[in-house]
Amino acid sequence: MQFKEQSITYPPVHPGTDRTFIRYYDRNTDFSYVFFKDHSEQTPARIFVTDSNVAQTSLFQSFYHHFSSEAVLLKHTVEKSGNDTLIIVDPGESHKTIETVLSIISTALNCNAQRNTVFIGIGGGVICDMTAFAASIFKRGSRVELVPTTLLSMVDAAIGGKTGCDFDNYKNMIGTFFPAQKIHIFPAFIKSLSSEQFRSGLAEVVKTALLYNSDLFTILEQNRDRVFKQEESFIDNIIETCASAKSRIVEQDLTENNIRMQLNFGHTFGHALETCAGLGTVSHGDAVAWGIGRALALSKRLGLCPGEYEQRVVKMLSEYGWEIASVHSALKQQFTNTATYAQTLCEVMKKDKKNNSNRIRFILQKNITDTVIAEVEESDILAVLSHD
Ligand SMILES: NC(=O)c1ccc[n+]([C@@H]2O[C@H](COP(=O)([O-])OP(=O)(O)OC[C@H]3O[C@@H](n4cnc5c(N)ncnc54)[C@H](O)[C@@H]3O)[C@@H](O)[C@H]2O)c1
Repeated sequence: MQFKEQSITYPPVHPGTDRTFIRYYDRNTDFSYVFFKDHSEQTPARIFVTDSNVAQTSLFQSFYHHFSSEAVLLKHTVEKSGNDTLIIVDPGESHKTIETVLSIISTALNCNAQRNTVFIGIGGGVICDMTAFAASIFKRGSRVELVPTTLLSMVDAAIGGKTGCDFDNYKNMIGTFFPAQKIHIFPAFIKSLSSEQFRSGLAEVVKTALLYNSDLFTILEQNRDRVFKQEESFIDNIIETCASAKSRIVEQDLTENNIRMQLNFGHTFGHALETCAGLGTVSHGDAVAWGIGRALALSKRLGLCPGEYEQRVVKMLSEYGWEIASVHSALKQQFTNTATYAQTLCEVMKKDKKNNSNRIRFILQKNITDTVIAEVEESDILAVLSHD
């Protein structure tokens, strides 16, 4: 076979933006003031996207009044105010779908949004991921800013430009890399989270500590009460520490070709649990915490990490109330046979988008902050899903 070949060389691609500004506001800041103080009809149009739970929080009410005279819960609402639009979608992982993303795009089109329109996602990881995804594909890419409102999205999901939605019951199967121009962190939003949602976010905090900050892990071990009491300055410091740690990683490897893969610690097991239980059944953070336990069991089994390290982390996870048993309670009813349970999770993991071959790639640890990436034999994976 003969052929002629020509190549086209492109400048480095910076999708979305080549710089993200993260603003940490103090607890007294009125978040609506931040968005409306200097805004005029002349500035680019804005499409705000949130969900019906966030729209009900007390912090959101002053913001909501810019759109409506009454702060009431309205689902699937589209509100107009001057050149701003507010879209309220249904909440939760079960609505992190391509249909919701398309409904955001369709509203944007109906509102005559242009490429300079700014999409602003106000919500947890689900809203941040979907809003940024919609912005990234709207007219081949417009602009995005994010206001994370859960602990999880403040310390993790809003940072780093991964966008997307679930598809066919698989997590985040569709998406883009499209960093936000600005991320506005208002820790006061945490107050209205349920204790389950708060704990879900803590799992990503624990992940960050184990990967990059052993002092933070010790602080978490020694201050469980302050964490659960949500002591404000204590939590605000944790948020800034974790957001900064993630920022430094994504700065080096936006598109996850090397060092960013570490951030998937606990996620290969965790995503498989979320999928098998049915998306939205086990919270993302609870699944990640369980996944961290399994990843360390695997590290120990492969002779990578000492048993004492695994035990230290498992003790902390269980003291914080996370499940550590190999068979997760969310799947106990579905699988009475442990071998079938392990095999099913393993098959789901093979579909993980981070694998390059049929072998499953894991983020493992030799010790705290000493992380390795390895492809692992199926027999070892099955073993840590069957035995504690
Ligand atoms: N892009 C990334 O890099 C990245 C990283 C980690 C996780 N994620 C994604 O993030 C998602 C999980 O994020 P999450 O835990 O924030 O879930 P979420 O967005 O579903 O929020 C959890 C629940 O809290 C409600 N909520 C949000 N803010 C609230 C507030 N201030 N007060 C009361 N209720 C509030 C939401 O309506 C929802 O019901 C997953 O889909 C995961 O895949 C993305």
